[in-house]
Amino acid sequence: MRFLMCPPDHYDVDYVINPWMEGNIHKSSQDRAAEQWQQLFHVLKEHAIVDLVTPQKGVPDMVFTANAGLVLGKTVVLSRFYHKERQGEEPFFKEWFLEKDFTVYELPKDLPFEGAGDALFDREGRWLWAGYGFRSELDSHPYLAEWLDTEVLSLRLMDERFYHLDTCFCPLQDGYLLYYPPAFDGYSNRLIEMRVPGAKRIAIGELDAVNFACNAVNVGSIVIVNKVSDELRQRLTQVGFQIVETPLTEFLKAGGAAKCLTLRVTEPVVSEVRAIAAVESRTIRLEGHLLDSGLINQALDVVVEAGGSFQVLNFNLGEQRQSTSAADVKVSAPSHEIMELIMVQLIDLGAVPPPQEICDVHLEVCVQTGVAPEDFYGTTIYPTEVRVQDQWVKVQAQRMDAAIVVAQTPQGLMAECKLLRDLQVDDRVVVGVEGIRTVRKVESREQRNTQEFSFMGSGVSSERRVELVVEQIAWELRQIRDQGGKVVVTAGPVVIHTGGGEHLAKLIREGYVQALLGGNAIAVHDIEQAIMGTSLGMDMKRGVSVQGGHRHHLKVINTIRRCGGIAQAVEQGVLTSGVLYECVRHNVPFSLAGSIRDDGPLPDTEMDLLEAQADYAHLIQGADLILMLSSMLHSIGVGNMTPAGVKMVCVDINPAVVTKLSDRGSIESVGVVTDVGLFLSLLTQQLGKLTNPYQSHL
Ligand code: ARG
Repeated sequence: MRFLMCPPDHYDVDYVINPWMEGNIHKSSQDRAAEQWQQLFHVLKEHAIVDLVTPQKGVPDMVFTANAGLVLGKTVVLSRFYHKERQGEEPFFKEWFLEKDFTVYELPKDLPFEGAGDALFDREGRWLWAGYGFRSELDSHPYLAEWLDTEVLSLRLMDERFYHLDTCFCPLQDGYLLYYPPAFDGYSNRLIEMRVPGAKRIAIGELDAVNFACNAVNVGSIVIVNKVSDELRQRLTQVGFQIVETPLTEFLKAGGAAKCLTLRVTEPVVSEVRAIAAVESRTIRLEGHLLDSGLINQALDVVVEAGGSFQVLNFNLGEQRQSTSAADVKVSAPSHEIMELIMVQLIDLGAVPPPQEICDVHLEVCVQTGVAPEDFYGTTIYPTEVRVQDQWVKVQAQRMDAAIVVAQTPQGLMAECKLLRDLQVDDRVVVGVEGIRTVRKVESREQRNTQEFSFMGSGVSSERRVELVVEQIAWELRQIRDQGGKVVVTAGPVVIHTGGGEHLAKLIREGYVQALLGGNAIAVHDIEQAIMGTSLGMDMKRGVSVQGGHRHHLKVINTIRRCGGIAQAVEQGVLTSGVLYECVRHNVPFSLAGSIRDDGPLPDTEMDLLEAQADYAHLIQGADLILMLSSMLHSIGVGNMTPAGVKMVCVDINPAVVTKLSDRGSIESVGVVTDVGLFLSLLTQQLGKLTNPYQSHL
């Protein structure tokens, strides 16, 4: 067995390119470093042949020969250093390999890969573990697979202290693996657990990890390291390894230890392995106000956060404020599974394949009622189109969290959103991510600013700002009413508790509301107020609780049950005012969805939730605006059923609710963080002013 080392003649910490180097510039002792290096050199020489490469001035990290390249048999893939500080080492290592008659492969420029520091062969030679995330790019892995004719398993590094794979991962003889699991993401840990049986995995703790226990040189049963805990030493000894500690503290200051200081240059080729890299790549195109709207950042974040990597192939920057940009981005993912995860999110952002790569959707037949095929595509609120028989078909009944069913009808091809529970055997369901696109409205800088203005990112909005927003909403309600449009209100009981009931009743009376959605509670409290003057036992006029008032709501429920329902109570003259009274009087349909906490319930409350959902969905159809008044549950439910393009106004005292709905990210949404009673009172006031537009001028 042969190793390559580089004497530390010019070693020093001259710059900071990893967290270990921070605070250590020129802090390592030249003499002690030389001594520690010599000791390692001698230990290693007892077990293997050690070759030397001539150290060079100006490249102090050249001692870390693990980063020279990745060797297999007589082939080497040279490193392309990520940091310019180390790029100067490349020609010296190249020269050494050429002199020794290696076949030398070089990666494309700008594709970083840091050699054996980030790529470690399974000790049986069955595959190559390759790290990415800090120094090496995921896109380098397919090259390794091809050039070295091996299977590459990509592992994503997550902790910047363990920036190279060999700082936290060390395959050992007989299939053992020494590693620090928290340095990897969940997917990588799963991959490791799939390939290495539990009995062979030696997971270490943070204390050993920061002593670089994984940065070990394994020769036969010998394991050479800087330092290990007694506990780890015991575990390793138990399974037959012999630990040789040799202090390398001076090199730790640069973020390296035993393994980094060596490169195994005799790596036997196992014949039956074959080139496979699970890494998948595809190109997507994004168009729009990519910079102004932050779309490009969002897209690239999606890729990286999911564990993929990207390369921007083309970026056509729109020069004028109104002109749009276009970008082609190559996306790579360590597996098919992750690629789909990324693609689904990119599709939501409006990404499409480049024209030459567009193909039909994949359809799979549903074989069990109410259950979609495993890999079904889950819908969003955005208008969606699917490619079938080379044409784009618009998906009907767009809503969130549904499956898309494609059917051939006498009228031609049809695609529609169907809830899982509505799927029928033989329905053809869209699976995977091919041939799907969502159409995002182009958001300009101005539009985005209005959205942010109304959203009051800072939490609580100032009174003046609330007034401005209310003015705008009043104007819009008036427009919609005058044009015969449709406004749907979802409301929670807080509307009544905060004194908003009379104002909401007025809106209904004056024709501003075309449907009301709520639960049992708002109806009970509204009727309690109408009949008894209290809301949950509080006198709404005086703001004090009434003796025995806590029973009022039960009495009210009982009264309505006696009448047979709310409409009957109105008919019988029992209910003569309030929100629901106005609904009945003005033929405004309402739907009350039941829940586990409902008392009663009122005969009108739909306790079958599937029925209630269907009822809501029916009432939402064709809405121009949805006014959501202090009901997180009902508002979110409604949000999921509603396609993009319907304006939403969400009013809640809790900023979290408002933000949750604003996550729809549509420019049509407005959030107002304020007391709902106050909001409604301002709104009716504003509408009153609109009624007499000339009054203010008199
Ligand atoms: N200072 C060097 C760097 O940050 C240390 C390299 C350690 N080498 C390794 N294979 N982990 O690049």
